[in-house]
Amino acid sequence: MLAVFRKEMVDVMNEKDGKPDRKFWGRYGFNSYDTLLKVEPYVANLNEVADAVDPKIGWRILDAACGTGSLLKLLHEREPDCRFDGVDFSQEMLDLARAKVGAYAKLQNADLCETLPYDDASFHAVASVQTLYSLPEPQKALKEFRRVLRRNGRLVIVNAYDMKPLRILAAHYAAAWRDRSSVRLVTEVRNAPAITLLLGINALLAARRKSLNCWGVERMRFEVESAGFRMVRARDDAYERTSVFMVATAI
Ligand SMILES: C[S@@+](CC[C@H](N)C(=O)[O-])C[C@H]1O[C@@H](n2cnc3c(N)ncnc32)[C@H](O)[C@@H]1O
Repeated sequence: MLAVFRKEMVDVMNEKDGKPDRKFWGRYGFNSYDTLLKVEPYVANLNEVADAVDPKIGWRILDAACGTGSLLKLLHEREPDCRFDGVDFSQEMLDLARAKVGAYAKLQNADLCETLPYDDASFHAVASVQTLYSLPEPQKALKEFRRVLRRNGRLVIVNAYDMKPLRILAAHYAAAWRDRSSVRLVTEVRNAPAITLLLGINALLAARRKSLNCWGVERMRFEVESAGFRMVRARDDAYERTSVFMVATAI
């Protein structure tokens, strides 16, 4: 595990512009990404996003940078009678997503920094979780989200402005402590190595925070409105006070 971690570290530290690249996300996906599904604040955040998307029968919904497909799965559980699409530029992430949601979601390899492979006004809702911060030009992606959304379509974004992996884990273990069951204790001990690896990868991202687009809520509001949206709500206490959570409407 340490060898894997060292390789991750060397890769991300070699980045020219300090941003994680396709290879980094591919390794993260392949090695450990779904360990996040064992981390309570991550799952709670995804559920909040699914609530905010609030899928309705017949909607077409895009998860922009769908990772391993966990949000698509939650959305499908809420309303199966929708058309689900997911894009990501990491083939490893997409392979994991395909195994999870391939039966009902159409997944494509696409780069959010380029034109998305959809017609104008294709979607009722677009969600993008914990991705804008890593893009070289998030503004371009926001404009693409506006283009592929219908008028009055819904945009839900979560984006980290701070990276505090220890705070996330503290919240996770606080929830485990409140649980105080022996089954939970055994589970936590078993999960500890994987969660430690995850913590290491997130610490690397945190170390690169200055070169990432970790926008606060005012900057996020400005960029989203500039891309053709009306803000419905925005707050900065999401994901254990590390992330902006915003909902906007395409105008
Ligand atoms: C932190 S993960 C978030 C994944 C998922 N949205 C979630 O919340 O679990 C960031 C994701 O963005 C993807 N990604 C990063 N840059 C991208 C780009 N330029 N185009 C498409 N996907 C990108 C990565 O491959 C990775 O799956």
